[in-house]
Amino acid sequence: MHSVIIGSGWNIPLFYTEVSTLLKQNVDDFQGVNTRFLQLQTPVELLKSLSSAATVDDIYSPGTFNYFSGENPVDEIRVNFENWLTEAHIENLGQSIAVRAIRIGGKKKGWSSAYLAGVLGGVLSKKSWIIDLDNPEVEIGLAINTNNSQIAWGVKQLSQAPRQGWSKRTPTQRPFFKPVSMDPRHAILMANLVKGEGEIIDPMTGTGGFLVEASFSGISAVGIDVAEEMVAGAKLNIQWAKENGATGKVEVIQGDSTKLSSFLPQKNFTGVVFDPPYGRNSQGTESLSVLFAKILSASREVVDVDSKLACLLPCTPSDPNQVHGRTWDEVEVDFISSGWEVLGKWVLPVHASLGRLLVLSKTKDLE
Ligand SMILES: C[S@@+](CC[C@H](N)C(=O)[O-])C[C@H]1O[C@@H](n2cnc3c(N)ncnc32)[C@H](O)[C@@H]1O
Repeated sequence: MHSVIIGSGWNIPLFYTEVSTLLKQNVDDFQGVNTRFLQLQTPVELLKSLSSAATVDDIYSPGTFNYFSGENPVDEIRVNFENWLTEAHIENLGQSIAVRAIRIGGKKKGWSSAYLAGVLGGVLSKKSWIIDLDNPEVEIGLAINTNNSQIAWGVKQLSQAPRQGWSKRTPTQRPFFKPVSMDPRHAILMANLVKGEGEIIDPMTGTGGFLVEASFSGISAVGIDVAEEMVAGAKLNIQWAKENGATGKVEVIQGDSTKLSSFLPQKNFTGVVFDPPYGRNSQGTESLSVLFAKILSASREVVDVDSKLACLLPCTPSDPNQVHGRTWDEVEVDFISSGWEVLGKWVLPVHASLGRLLVLSKTKDLE
């Protein structure tokens, strides 16, 4: 059975990476690579693991997508949808149904989402389905991409996009906020990219931005920070998260993360997430590149043999080879020499002249 995953459009390569990581499936198994519609054959129970993805908007299962041409694709869509209902065994067992449509891209004549939702609704009512737009038992999702003439449809599996609730917990709403606080979307994405069976460590936890989001996602994590003020503030934020329904077991410890193994009783974390200080936020006199290399090495000493690390580095969006005053090749040497193999890197634009380079790596054998 085919399903279609609808990407949020934020960063398509990362969408494929996050989905393949969460499903433990190879990107090569997916159809539709490089668009916002990703088709795959995965049991619907496994697709539920995507319900906390940072880059996913919806899951249609069963679902399909096609390319349609011309100004008036309605007849073709009607026939295709009718055939698909039969092929996907969407049987009318007397339940009520509604079509929920979204449009990606600009307006296009003959491609209005309300109109095409009505076309699909017409097919369903001809097959005697009870249409109930307010409280349907079955929801058919319809996603219309006018940019590339792609249309996807299927049985909607998510009542709302995973990112829907995030606006309620922007870092400014927490009791302790600093401009360095991690964007919740970055935190969730990184957690999903590195999470394994065990706990995650954030060796530079600052206001606890990562810990808060980990806790909301039910993930266990430990945060470390050298600054007393940050540790006290991160504790307040964790308490706030708990009061607001977060369930993941998270804690914060004060310490110097260049010496993690000397004070951490537990040394089998399966994921590492952090964003190092930069500019005026830096602590102490040590150069930031030296500090960064030390944190990579120290983290490597407290993880399991098969672990992942994700970090965010300041970069120039137009030239991601420039990473906070160094070339990418120089930065990669830090990863390799401390026992990490780089799996991928992606630019997350912040504004015209500043971006974040998200680097994902995994443990490699120490020489
Ligand atoms: C960019 S901030 C991290 C922000 C954090 N992700 C958040 O959501 O607030 C970097 C943090 O690294 C901490 N730091 C700097 N050197 C450290 C060290 N040697 N050990 C532990 N923490 C350190 C700083 O105190 C600062 O809070």
